[in-house]
Parts: sequence; structure tokens; C-alpha cells
Amino acid sequence: MFIGIPKEIKVHEYRVGATPEMVQLFTQNGHTVVVETQAGAAIGFLDQHYIAAGATIAKTAAEVYKAEMIIKVKELQESEFPLLHEGQVLFCYLHLAPDPVQTESLVKANVVAIAYETVVDSKGRLPLLIPMSEIAGRISIQVGATALQMDRGGKGLLLGGVPGVASAKVAIIGGGVVGTEAARMALGLGANVIVLDRDIHRLRELDALFGPGMQTLYSTPSSIAKTLKDSDLVVGSVLVPGKTAPRLVTKEIIKSMSPGSVFVDVAIDQGGCSETSRPTTHANPTYIVDDVVHYCVTNMPGACARTSTLALTNATLPYALAIANKGYKRALKENNSLLHGLNVYRGKITNEHVAHDLGYAYVAPETAIA
Ligand SMILES: NC(=O)c1ccc[n+]([C@@H]2O[C@H](COP(=O)([O-])OP(=O)(O)OC[C@H]3O[C@@H](n4cnc5c(N)ncnc54)[C@H](O)[C@@H]3O)[C@@H](O)[C@H]2O)c1
Repeated sequence: MFIGIPKEIKVHEYRVGATPEMVQLFTQNGHTVVVETQAGAAIGFLDQHYIAAGATIAKTAAEVYKAEMIIKVKELQESEFPLLHEGQVLFCYLHLAPDPVQTESLVKANVVAIAYETVVDSKGRLPLLIPMSEIAGRISIQVGATALQMDRGGKGLLLGGVPGVASAKVAIIGGGVVGTEAARMALGLGANVIVLDRDIHRLRELDALFGPGMQTLYSTPSSIAKTLKDSDLVVGSVLVPGKTAPRLVTKEIIKSMSPGSVFVDVAIDQGGCSETSRPTTHANPTYIVDDVVHYCVTNMPGACARTSTLALTNATLPYALAIANKGYKRALKENNSLLHGLNVYRGKITNEHVAHDLGYAYVAPETAIA
């Protein structure tokens, strides 16, 4: 298959759809790969690395978009719409439900669009979203620890304390993928950690995973209020799939926290889990409400674009290779996970949520490819 890797053009997006190592696997499998010049340069994947992996380098996006399959990271930007062609496979994050303009352009272009965020594995997990949650969870403690410093508006507390001085108290609301990785990092730095979740089975799993060094607590409005009152760093990492985040942290709870405490709302991409949360960017990540430092960056993994690219491509590689080796039709027929990821198939919307939210007729993916 002829595969194209364009340079991402979304503002401050430094990730790339394929590493040189991934490209080498494609070329070793007999595929032809074209990479747009400087596609990975910002994170250390240079043109010469891609050439050594067997790719050719294109000067323009238009040359890359001649490929049969485009592998990239973010949804298409407007200047990329006219570059698509009929029957082309698009494999990337798409987030079509809130994006009628992109959806219409994919429908009109008659492409085969497979969205990372809707690929589902045999256990019902989202394998191409999990790596980004893992990264955001780990980053949450790094940024939280930094925000506790005086120079960032924090109360001047070292997360792990030192011998003779107590460590900071970290509360994590939501013990899923983000929460687990946040807990791991906070415990590793020597903090005193408590995780709240409303799923008792998840709390059991966390208890077994981390042992008596970490506390778990059933999440209720009052257990959240009591715990946050004397916490130094709070991580918001709840998710109710398909819904905006529940506003579990009220203005009053934030007011009750001691001055210089920190609240990192990872769930901000779903609207945030505090009444005081509003989205921020890497350029200006924090703001203060009632003396509590808030960090609410919606694309936290972007801060570690190299790690994020490696983690993302580890996850996308087997799917991308299956599409390339089998051709998209056979790959979709034989791989139910990929079929779940199919959002647009040659003019038809094959994802129920996208069809419902944007007013298109829904065609089941099995029917569309039959
Ligand atoms: N800001 C970013 O850059 C970024 C990056 C990755 C993920 N996220 C977001 O982080 C959030 C968490 O993602 P995840 O992958 O860990 O999800 P997940 O589904 O693995 O975990 C969510 C957890 O929240 C728990 N929960 C739901 N309601 C709760 C409540 N009332 N009280 C306590 N716990 C509750 C669930 O039981 C579950 O264990 C999501 O909103 C996701 O979109 C943000």
C-alpha cells in the first residue's frame, strides 16, 4: 500500500502519525511510505531518520495526500479537506460528532475514515485513547507538584516532604486510567495519596494494586468535600462515558481548601469536574480562584509530544499494519475493533453517535462494507 504521513498543522501540535521505526516496519512489509518534510522534526524524528527507514520525503502536503492511506494524529484542518481523494483511507483522531464541517467534507470526498477514538478492543476498552490518558495522568502530578511551589502561586510544599517533615496530601477523584497513573506518580514521589471513585470494584482493584500505602474512599458529595478540605493537591479525573464531566467539586469546596493548594482538572476536556474550572492552554496553563491554583489544560499530552507520539504509535501500529497488509476491506471485515472505528465509509456515516448528533442517516459499518 502507498502510505502518507503528513506534518500536523493544528496549532501547537508536535506529534506525528508514524515514527521512523513504524515506517521501517511498513517498508519491510513491502509498502511505500512518503513523509512530509519536517513532520517529526520538532520531537527529534528527522527527515534523514525516515529516509533511513525507507521512506521518501515530500516537500508538500499535496504530495503526501496522493497516498492510499493517510496516517496522522489530529482531525483534518480546513486546508487539508481539498487534498482528500475517493477511496482514500484516513486513520487518525477525528472527533466528528461536534464537527459538522469536517464530517461533510469526509462524506463528500468518499473516503474511508477510521477514527482512533472509536476503535474498541475485545474487552470494550478504547486502546487508542488509553495511552493519552496514561500520559495525562502522569503529567498531572508533575504539573501539580510544580504548581505547589511558591513561584507558581502554591503553598510552598514539597510533595514527598523530607525526613522529619510530613509529605503533601494528594486526592484523586476518579480512579480510572488517568487516576491510576496519577496515583502511581504521586506515590513514587512519596506523597500521601487517597483515590475516590464511585465504582467499588475499581476501588478493590486499586487497593490490590497499590496495597496499604494508598487509601481508597467511596466517592459521595460529602466524602469529596471532607477529603478536599485538607488536601494539598487534587486531581480531577472522572469520566462518565459519552457525557460531560459531573461537577463534583463545588465553589464552596474550593473555598474550603487552604490557600496555595492546587487543583489539576484533567477532566477539563469533558467540561471539567469543578464549578471553578475553565479550559486553559500550555501557553498560560494556570489561574487562581479563592487562592487555589487551577491547572486546566485540555490537551495535556501535547506537553510531552515525543513520549505521546511513541505511546500513540505503539497502539496504532498493529491496526495500521493490518490495514496496509490486508487492504482496508479485508482488515475491516476481519477485525471488529477496526470496524468499530469506522466513522465514514464512501459517503455514508457508519458511527451511530455521529449520525445522530449531526442528522445523517446511519448505515451499520457491516452493511456499508458488504
Ligand atoms: N486534559 C487532557 O489532556 C486529558 C487527556 C486524557 C484524558 N483526559 C480526560 O480524563 C478523564 C478521565 O479519563 P480516563 O481515561 O481515566 O477515564 P476512565 O473511564 O478510565 O476513568 C474514569 C473514572 O471516573 C470514575 N467516576 C465516574 N463518576 C465518578 C464520581 N462521581 N466520583 C468518583 N469517580 C467517578 C469512574 O468510575 C472511572 O473509574 C476523561 O474526562 C478524559 O477525557 C483528559
